[in-house]
Amino acid sequence: NIYDIAVIGGDGIGPEVVEAEIAVLEATGLAWNFSSYEAGDDCLASRGQALPQATLDGALAAQAVIFGAAGVSAADVILRLRAELGTFVNLRPSVAYKGVNCLHPQTDMMIVRENTECLYAGIEAQLTPEVVTATRVITSQASTRIVNYALEWARQAGGKKVTAVHKANVLRKTDGHFLQCCRAAARQFPDVPYEEALVDSVAMRMAMRPEEFQVIVTTNLFGDILSDLAAGLIGGLGMCPSANLGQAHALFEPVHGTAPDIAGQGKANPSAAILCGAMLLRHLGQEQWAARVEKAVADCVADGQATSDLGGKLRTMEMARAVIDRL
Ligand code: NAI
Ligand code: MG
Repeated sequence: NIYDIAVIGGDGIGPEVVEAEIAVLEATGLAWNFSSYEAGDDCLASRGQALPQATLDGALAAQAVIFGAAGVSAADVILRLRAELGTFVNLRPSVAYKGVNCLHPQTDMMIVRENTECLYAGIEAQLTPEVVTATRVITSQASTRIVNYALEWARQAGGKKVTAVHKANVLRKTDGHFLQCCRAAARQFPDVPYEEALVDSVAMRMAMRPEEFQVIVTTNLFGDILSDLAAGLIGGLGMCPSANLGQAHALFEPVHGTAPDIAGQGKANPSAAILCGAMLLRHLGQEQWAARVEKAVADCVADGQATSDLGGKLRTMEMARAVIDRL
């Protein structure tokens, strides 16, 4: 069984951290077939398109996609990829690793963000020169499939608590509908603890007592904001992977961007990308390898075998080697 993976390094530190991720995946000894494709700012400059058709075709044909980061063209590249691949789940774990200086060392939560609609449906209008609007789209189909995904994930994780995050007291129609879909789905999972909470109060509680949350399921905009808040709690972007999952496709990307301030210097922390590799392994059914990669990263960070953003002395590929040594 050979895993066919499309690799899109992109711009800035994207290709640097993806190189580290691939080195770790190859060290598992599993059979991989990595195919590289171009996308992003450099690609736009050289080929006239930020996301060429060949890249899209490669991503669609592969079993999964590994993505680094794209620069100013990020929205064009990654939003289009998510749409074309039909990845309706954005899975964003925030885990505080020992050895990382952070606000809340007890944080360990999974944010399950709806990835296709809400205010990001792209329906904006200029009514008059003085008045503009955005339309928030919430459907039963997208809401039900995202909450089902979150409940199933929580069940697999041993019965973790799911918190449905909303603002139904104000957004009565849209979040009211989302909440109804959540409740109906939760009734099908009597073994999974379920609660509901208002998004503003969740933001405050996350800042004060993040250990109150295990699995958060929410709509696109709230999920975008809360997952960056969660990243802040665990010490920033260097340790945050993410997965975009759909019926037929999956794309794994670190949450961070191209980090132009450190690009090309071998300073990028590869942990987020390597943890994306662990999520990919889990997606492929290689749970044991996924756990081993996560533990190797955790042990490196705890021992100070890390890049300078974590207070260590290693360069990007040196940290990848340290992770591989522990595998
Ligand atoms: P950024 O995540 O690239 O950088 C923010 C800060 O975090 C910088 O100081 C950077 O050096 C640091 N940082 C980020 N990742 C790091 C890593 N792995 N190791 C060590 N330090 C790290 O966000 P920023 O500066 O807002 O955006 C830069 C560019 O990236 C922009 O062009 C933006 O459009 C793009 N971007 C792309 C994303 C994507 O492709 N998914 C996501 C976010 C931003
Ligand atoms: Mg965001």
